[in-house]
Amino acid sequence: MSVQVLVASSVQDLGMAAADAVLDRLAARANPVLGIATGSSPLPLYEQLARRSRELPRLRGFALDEYLGLPPGHPQSYREVVRREVVEPLGLDPDDVQVPNGAAADPERAAADYEELIRAAGGIDVQILGIGGNGHLAFNEPGSALDSRTRVVELTASTREANARFFPSLGDVPAQALTQGLGTIREARSLILLASGSGKADAVAAALTGPVTPRVPASVLQLHPDVTVLLAGGSEAGLEPGSYTLVRETSASGH
Ligand code: GLP
Repeated sequence: MSVQVLVASSVQDLGMAAADAVLDRLAARANPVLGIATGSSPLPLYEQLARRSRELPRLRGFALDEYLGLPPGHPQSYREVVRREVVEPLGLDPDDVQVPNGAAADPERAAADYEELIRAAGGIDVQILGIGGNGHLAFNEPGSALDSRTRVVELTASTREANARFFPSLGDVPAQALTQGLGTIREARSLILLASGSGKADAVAAALTGPVTPRVPASVLQLHPDVTVLLAGGSEAGLEPGSYTLVRETSASGH
């Protein structure tokens, strides 16, 4: 398996190690394309990239997914989340960052158009990922085909419950989303997944050490040639000690 697993001793160290991995890989590409994940796991990474924004090359970006049916400008739409948490802090040009159109009259068409935009950009160089407690990647829920493309999906009850913290009530969480498929994600040249907290331990262990199966969408990581998994806060608890590298950044590292 070509997955490199790093365990950081704090969430801040996790962000620093992830930023090093992202910046290294972006530097190797002309006109790099970054795949952007939402959720709380990548936030320490975005914080570090914002601090090191002078090191960032000019980037184009593609978000992984978007809720379907939220009105344009809704603060929890991923278009808005990506603007607040990534585009503005990292100083990206908003015109260079795409998010699937969750308000499209024809969402299947919007999904196909999104695939085409990624293709036209030359594909994604570095894809940032989180993992759902049920093993989902982006909004590819258990049962998603390992070669699926960007499409309309139904969210599971557990995903809607996990994301209800961002909405006034569970009933306000959209039931559907547009998501890059597992096949789309697998085409990115490098994958960098972050997970924090013991609530992710079972999903991480299943993804990295279990069978490659649609029941655990993140198990597709095992099929990819360049994957870095960064863990902190107990998300490594299901892995054999010795199967990962411990990373500890210090303030002397110059970041
Ligand atoms: C959402 C997103 C995923 C993300 C997951 C985990 O459902 N669509 O892309 O990985 O949540 O989120 P968190 O990092 O907040 O646990």
